[in-house]
Amino acid sequence: MGNFTFSSLLRKKKIEAPSSSDQDDLARVIGMPSLIFFGVGGIVGTGLFSITGIAASEHAGPAVILSFFIGAIACAFIGLCYSELAGMVTVSGSSYSYTYISYGEIIAWMVGWNLVLEYAVGAGAVAVSWSKYLLSLLEGFNIHLDQRFIASPLETIKLADGTVTHGIINLPSMFIVIVLSFLLMKGIRESLTLNNVVVFVKIFVVLALIAFGIPYIHASNFVPFTPENTSGDFGHFGYSGIMQAAGMVIFAYIGFDSVSSTAQEVKDPSKNIPKAILVIIATCAIIYVLFAFVIVGLVYYKDLVGDAAPVATAINHTPFIWLQPIVKFSILFGYIPILFLLLIGQTRIFYSLAKDGLIPSFFSKTHPKYKTPCYSHLFFMVMICFLSAFFPMDVLGNMCSIGALFAFVFVCSGMIILRRTYKDYPRTFKAPGGDIIPAIGVITSLVLMYSLNWLTWQIMSIWLFIGLIVYFTYGNRHSKLNKQ
Ligand code: ALA
Repeated sequence: MGNFTFSSLLRKKKIEAPSSSDQDDLARVIGMPSLIFFGVGGIVGTGLFSITGIAASEHAGPAVILSFFIGAIACAFIGLCYSELAGMVTVSGSSYSYTYISYGEIIAWMVGWNLVLEYAVGAGAVAVSWSKYLLSLLEGFNIHLDQRFIASPLETIKLADGTVTHGIINLPSMFIVIVLSFLLMKGIRESLTLNNVVVFVKIFVVLALIAFGIPYIHASNFVPFTPENTSGDFGHFGYSGIMQAAGMVIFAYIGFDSVSSTAQEVKDPSKNIPKAILVIIATCAIIYVLFAFVIVGLVYYKDLVGDAAPVATAINHTPFIWLQPIVKFSILFGYIPILFLLLIGQTRIFYSLAKDGLIPSFFSKTHPKYKTPCYSHLFFMVMICFLSAFFPMDVLGNMCSIGALFAFVFVCSGMIILRRTYKDYPRTFKAPGGDIIPAIGVITSLVLMYSLNWLTWQIMSIWLFIGLIVYFTYGNRHSKLNKQ
């Protein structure tokens, strides 16, 4: 550890305009409409189409609607903080960059390291959900795949002959991760055009499902609205269940923060990013609460147990069964922008960590022609393939939620610090009400973290511990601030 000093843990970066060399490395191609599309398209997905079923059937019952509402309120406060910060700090790296300036290196490192849970592990969850909808689509066409190759070894599955067994490996989820990673290595321009079309179809289908579904809702499905907690376990129905489900569905809102991690590729970022974040959160919140209302209104919550494709089940409770293939196709394609957003967010964060010397420069190397961090994409492709092949969706989804909430705690509290240390620094947007908004952002994030299950906490603690080893054996010594 050579010349280690405790003060090095708290060294801070200053707010600065991105260096010209950084700007040259990444092309500025994203405008405001694309940014909003990019955001909403990257947010509405697995959290809604898959986690809703698990959260309702195992944790909150029909009160999952309240969980989505609680998640929306939390994200609104957090989003206001991100908007203020994105209007001050316009370099890539999002939460990591903000905490480097407010708290200093060690906290920034822990936040950046934990963002791997949010982005890479989150991408794994989306890929698993993708594979489940693929299975459901093919079954609709009477094509029956061997389920053991579309499930993790930790998942219990029922085969066509009635045998109950475990999965072996999830191959389709690996396939989608590999295809999209290679597309991204080639360049952001093509993927944005594709995104816009796909997002349009996805949002249309979500709105159509809400409109078609409402007339067939049965009031009896809402009774009991909050099923009793009979086991005494925290998080299984009752109020604790609503809170645990709220922690889980934070996953559904993830993506708004990664809008700010693309700052170096956005035109006029200080104006466009804050506006886009607020519009994106508001849009998603309305869609989610309505959609959850329709799903649990159509299907009794107990019938959603173990259902990774609840949208398909919900359609079966309407006369529009013919919609099944269209909806499943749209969901399958609709997951592509989410995976893009998470994969791009992840590589951009590692790009920033590498530029700062906290991880090897390999992660910030860009392709000479395509200008993309292709080596980083390759690295995460392998990692996400492994995760999605061997872990179930809810475990990965919860990891994603806790990783994001961990970052939110430090971003919101860091904003309180920055309002003092950078009091007169120009901000394109200032969240109203003094420090109330960031304070509520911190409290709600902590409460939602607390609500998540014990396994999620254990995995996060192990991950953080590994991160600290990496920092003390590499990052602290190689930090660019160390050389200064
Ligand atoms: N918000 C994204 C989703 O729900 C991660 O799929």
